[in-house]
Amino acid sequence: MEKIALGVCSSISIYKAGEIIRLFQEEGYAVRVIMTEKATQFINPYLFDSLTGEKTIISLFDERQRPIEHISLAGEISLLLVAPATANMIGKLASGVADDFLSTFYLAVKCPVLIAPAMNEAMYLHPQTQENIRRLKKLGVEFVEPESGYLACGQKGIGRLASPEKIVQKSLRLIRRREIFQDKIVLITAGPTREFLDPVRFLSNPSSGKMGYELAREAYELGAEVILVSGPVELEPPPEVYIEKVVTAEEMRKAVLKHYERADVVIMAAAVADFKFREHLPAKIKKDSLSESLAIENTPDILQELGKLKSRQLLVGFAAETTEILERAEKKLKQKNLDLMIANDVSVPDSGFGSGYNEILLLWPDGRSRKIPRATKRKISQEIFSEIEVLLHERPRN
Ligand SMILES: Cc1cc2nc3c(=O)[nH]c(=O)nc-3n(C[C@H](O)[C@H](O)[C@H](O)COP(=O)(O)O)c2cc1C
Repeated sequence: MEKIALGVCSSISIYKAGEIIRLFQEEGYAVRVIMTEKATQFINPYLFDSLTGEKTIISLFDERQRPIEHISLAGEISLLLVAPATANMIGKLASGVADDFLSTFYLAVKCPVLIAPAMNEAMYLHPQTQENIRRLKKLGVEFVEPESGYLACGQKGIGRLASPEKIVQKSLRLIRRREIFQDKIVLITAGPTREFLDPVRFLSNPSSGKMGYELAREAYELGAEVILVSGPVELEPPPEVYIEKVVTAEEMRKAVLKHYERADVVIMAAAVADFKFREHLPAKIKKDSLSESLAIENTPDILQELGKLKSRQLLVGFAAETTEILERAEKKLKQKNLDLMIANDVSVPDSGFGSGYNEILLLWPDGRSRKIPRATKRKISQEIFSEIEVLLHERPRN
């Protein structure tokens, strides 16, 4: 099992370290915690012993550890993450001070290092702290920027530890990145679109955007530059992903076309509404003045247009069907000039639309197909990207 070393310093946000450990464990990683001496003033190390099943390291000189633990452990880990990192620790790491286990260990590791600062705004923005961060970045150390909001000191400002989800996703990008995705731009659409009749009524579908957001997360973790064009959803995008929020199919079309030329891989996972009202009224229609029938018309077929415009892009489409899934998906794959089609049966309970799970059938233009049985959308997106990786390797490099 791959292992991560988690350095924990004496910040109030130390309580979030437990959640970080849990998220890593869910992803299949073991975590070894290193606390600063002062961090033990905030939390008893026994908490981390219990969460990780391993003795928390605090001191350089501890006879329960292997004789030269900082060197032995350095060879076993895939990442050193310091979260929360205090101003003091960032300063020590930036200047090579090695007077406790964590700062000594930092000098001994050869794996990627990620730092998540947490402190009061004045401390964070202090030129000395900023200079220390710049120095570390120059040496290749990565950072997860703190967030703005209410701080433990009662003030509002920047300095709050980034969310455990963001910290873990950025960590996974450093551990899982693949060479083939390093210079790739992946454009993904997600969520539903809304086609309004008047300001309060619209045509849409139950798409939650989870599949598209999981795909964006996977592309991000593999090291790609990600552009996410998202319909209205209640989800947090992965960190460092460029997001364009749209509402209607036409807005989605425009946003996708804007980025299409630059993209290497394009995945249309959005559930674009197929119809829109012929009329779009600027004011709310009174109930009693609604006519018995409302004229509708087709929205633009974005995937079809992308298929026609395709030059070097690897184009992946989704087909949400309820009947004749294989036949319809095969037809769309050819009609829309796709490199990969992902068909899903949205009539299966707790799968597809709105669910955290999916069950898909992958289809290639050469007639091959592969079924991926019901799994979490996270797992499904990993499988989809392992197939995209194969397709990218097969392509001549430009
Ligand atoms: C209640 C309390 C909260 C603190 N929170 C932070 C913090 O969030 N960030 C920070 O850089 N320092 C914080 N400090 C100051 C550090 O604890 C102090 O600089 C310490 O020397 C850092 O030691 P360490 O880096 O070895 O953990 C806090 C101190 C106290 C008393």
